[in-house]
Amino acid sequence: MYDFKIAAADKATLYRDLASALEGLVAGEPDPVANMANAAALIWETLPGLNWAGFYRNISGELVLGPFQGRPACIRIKFGEGVCGAAAASLEPQRVDDVDQFPGHIACDAASVSELVVPIVRDGELVAVLDLDSPARARFDADDEAGCVALAKVLARAL
Ligand code: SME
Repeated sequence: MYDFKIAAADKATLYRDLASALEGLVAGEPDPVANMANAAALIWETLPGLNWAGFYRNISGELVLGPFQGRPACIRIKFGEGVCGAAAASLEPQRVDDVDQFPGHIACDAASVSELVVPIVRDGELVAVLDLDSPARARFDADDEAGCVALAKVLARAL
């Protein structure tokens, strides 16, 4: 049984604890689906205010839905489309305070208002994107982005 109790006073500590729990979860496990599934569950349990947390994988230049927590979501997203596709095409994190203001945003769940997507890159190649959605406006700040970039670095070695 894994029982991570992460209750940090500030975001930097929260994400440091989260990254270390994630390192422990994926250690020694080579299966990418298992690691994405546990990562989605850990993030979902740890970060407050989310309505979706999960992965889209780079399958031959198209994003295909991977393990996640939340409501069923769109299955395939082309590079350059929506927030996930923008992260995939640019290899840069995308932090969106209000998805209605993001041209081409793909509404999988009408409840989603803000979104953070971080590319997971290994040897210069996109492996997957980590996508977090929230029903709250501007849920994600620069600390969340930095924290998720750190999680993506752990995941780049585990997927
Ligand atoms: N909103 C995303 C699509 C994926 S869902 O949020 C799970 C986008 O615009 O890329």
